[in-house]
Amino acid sequence: MSHEDLTQTPLPADGGFEVHLAQRGQTYQVPADQSILRVLSDAGVDLPFACEQGVCGTCLTKVVAGQPDHWDMFLTPEEQAANDQMLICCSRSQTARLVLDL
Ligand code: FES
Repeated sequence: MSHEDLTQTPLPADGGFEVHLAQRGQTYQVPADQSILRVLSDAGVDLPFACEQGVCGTCLTKVVAGQPDHWDMFLTPEEQAANDQMLICCSRSQTARLVLDL
């Protein structure tokens, strides 16, 4: 298992996961008590956002790999089920790694 694909691995028990930004080639650790948006903003990644409550859709981001855990009220159930986009201010991950188109 030298090349374990964490985008296929269930979320660890501590609730933390890693986010890889495909365009920037950077990986960040997201702890259970922080949003993806907060982690990236704190790291200096400048991203658009507004409500931070999963309502406005401003932080909509394309998902390249991994499975989001949708907590927003913006996407339709069908859009959420497609797992190809997510609201990074409130939604999390069901897999140990998410790859985002950022
Ligand atoms: Fe409004 Fe994420 S900032 S949905």
